[in-house]
Amino acid sequence: MNQNHKIIIAIDGYSSSGKSTLAKKISNILKYKYIDTGAMYRGITLLAIRNRIFDSDLWNIRNFMPVLRDVHFKFIWNNKLNKTDIFLNEENIQSEIRSLKVTKKVSLIAQIPEIREKLTIIQKNFGEEKGIVMDGRDIGYSVFPKSELKIFMKGSIEVRSFRRYLDLQKKGEKVSYEEVKKNIIHRDILDTSRKISPLKKSIDSLEIDNTYLSIEDQLNLVFQLINRIKKNNQIII
Ligand code: DC
Repeated sequence: MNQNHKIIIAIDGYSSSGKSTLAKKISNILKYKYIDTGAMYRGITLLAIRNRIFDSDLWNIRNFMPVLRDVHFKFIWNNKLNKTDIFLNEENIQSEIRSLKVTKKVSLIAQIPEIREKLTIIQKNFGEEKGIVMDGRDIGYSVFPKSELKIFMKGSIEVRSFRRYLDLQKKGEKVSYEEVKKNIIHRDILDTSRKISPLKKSIDSLEIDNTYLSIEDQLNLVFQLINRIKKNNQIII
């Protein structure tokens, strides 16, 4: 397949709106690389915790800059577990970044301009050869404003909270539905109100409200658009 025919698919949306589920399915079908940018912000948060940046003055980012300068990320397909693992400086951080201690601090880290700048550069590099599905909050709006397909995902607070609650229960975490809901409402506020690159829907994106939609329904919508892009541009994606 001609590399030039591949496209970039940007998926943005609210916490627990099913971005990664949809992104993984699309990347599997198209044999594209899947890049989870939330995992990158979580990775930097883990580094910040390890470097004790939260113990002192968070906004004194200067101490953290040398650490930040040297970071590199890799996303590698794990055949055994049938999922993509994320490596930060050669360390597999896939499970550690999902911990509660990282989740609680990540929104703070995602507000720091120097960190957003650094991660945006890395994310743009991932897209150089196209053929990627990238999900996050600012991908269609600011990382790849010219991406061929942009998707914006949302869903009711209740449905998103319940999905997240079930996920956490499966992992054995003892947390109530009300607590999960409170955290999602809090993250929505932080994601949409931060000064730099807030979560925002670009006008040229396909909006999917999946409160009542199955994953098959969502894939149908997305592939209708992909087929239209293929036909209009006479390309193989
Ligand atoms: O998708 P997630 O919950 O793993 O994301 C973790 C945090 O990172 C979330 O608080 C929003 C932030 N984030 C961001 O600011 N920009 C992105 N492109 C992706 C995530």
